[in-house]
Amino acid sequence: MATGITKKNWQEETTIITDESFDGSFGYEIQYKGKSSASELINKLPEQNYSKIFGNGEDNLLFNGDNLDVLKHLIHERNLKNKIKLIYIDPPYGTNSVFHSRNQKSSYKDDLVGSHFIEFIRKRLILLRELLSDDGSIYVHLDNNMTFEIKLIMDEIFGAKNFKGFISRKKCSNKNYTKNTYGNISDYILFYSKTENYIWNRATLVWTDEKMKKEYPCIDENTGRRFKKVPIHAPGVRNGETGKMWKGMMPPKGKHWQYLPSKLDVFDKNGDIYWSATGNPRRKVWFDKNKGVAVQDIWTDVQDSVNQNVKITGYPTEKNPNLLERIINASSNEGDYVLDCFAGSGTTLDVAGQLKRKWIGVDNSSESMRNIFKRFFKGLKQMGNFNINKNPNKDELDQMKLFEPTAKYNSDLSKTMDFEFYADSRFEDDAFGIYEEYREE
Ligand SMILES: C[S@@+](CC[C@H](N)C(=O)[O-])C[C@H]1O[C@@H](n2cnc3c(N)ncnc32)[C@H](O)[C@@H]1O
Repeated sequence: MATGITKKNWQEETTIITDESFDGSFGYEIQYKGKSSASELINKLPEQNYSKIFGNGEDNLLFNGDNLDVLKHLIHERNLKNKIKLIYIDPPYGTNSVFHSRNQKSSYKDDLVGSHFIEFIRKRLILLRELLSDDGSIYVHLDNNMTFEIKLIMDEIFGAKNFKGFISRKKCSNKNYTKNTYGNISDYILFYSKTENYIWNRATLVWTDEKMKKEYPCIDENTGRRFKKVPIHAPGVRNGETGKMWKGMMPPKGKHWQYLPSKLDVFDKNGDIYWSATGNPRRKVWFDKNKGVAVQDIWTDVQDSVNQNVKITGYPTEKNPNLLERIINASSNEGDYVLDCFAGSGTTLDVAGQLKRKWIGVDNSSESMRNIFKRFFKGLKQMGNFNINKNPNKDELDQMKLFEPTAKYNSDLSKTMDFEFYADSRFEDDAFGIYEEYREE
């Protein structure tokens, strides 16, 4: 594995051009026909062509309408500028297709391509940045069609230095591809913060017994605590304290101590140094100090619900609640606002509510509203093809075993959520009818 060393340890004089020379950006931007002015967009007031507003007081809000207008409404009329801690969006992906739900109802079109798609997303991202709080984060879920174009746009809007991660997600089980290429089973999530100082609760997986024994194989004779041994020296010669003798020993040739000799003394006094029979010191890393296996940027354990034993509404492209749980826990705290302006079946809203966050959802499809109300008032059903994942490989099994969701996703909880209706009845449309239909049943 190739690992870079920090620039200050580079021994020759050299000029390395970094983003700092471009004041935070990399000094390029993507140009295309029809790219509009960001400031004009931000200052333009909403035209109020979203439909009704549903919600629960000021806390949980659901809008049926074009999110461009709703986002302007949130900024200019609801005073939510700089107030949203977490945004997750799962917009159309630029696939040039139409989507039907499992009961064959037309749900939404994904027919904007090329520069039209880029500009559609860019306009929304500009407004979303206005809404994001200084310690907030945004996650944008896309697939192999437009992720790379939107990454450049996000660098422009949020700043390349605020790019925090590129998550590759396994979206479904392996396919028997007939095309002459590799089976496409991944999609991607771009993760940006608004500033350097952002909410981050490290996501971890639980240890299996097998993994614990493999990685922490030693038991301390005196205390019975489990540990692993790690070297106390690192590559590179140092002339300071860490290059000097400790307990009558110099660091091995070409290396230095990782800690000051005074710190090594403290480790030794506390029983944190393991001495081999030949007098070779190693540091003991205790298993009980470990907070769990840190989640990395390849996620194979949160495939779409239709391939797992998770209940769903049946809306097309409905995401796995466990995926949202991971994101919401990592990048927000209880009581924070979570926004999803491509809400679909309301997965984000449901999980955010269960994790005690306030939520704002927007979607312009009536079928989306129908599925959100179904989720909140009737509950979900198992509809997956559970045979698909009969023979998951060992990696998949390991990851699935390690992830322990904390919230319950059978929607029993959400059914009992106090989801009261209040409406801005300026507009006549079918969303109110859909709401009543589900509320009364
Ligand atoms: C990929 S789906 C989201 C699925 C969702 N994450 C879930 O778990 O169910 C994209 C959604 O964006 C909505 N949408 C597309 N354009 C929109 C717009 N301009 N305003 C509001 N919603 C829009 C579609 O109706 C669709 O429901």
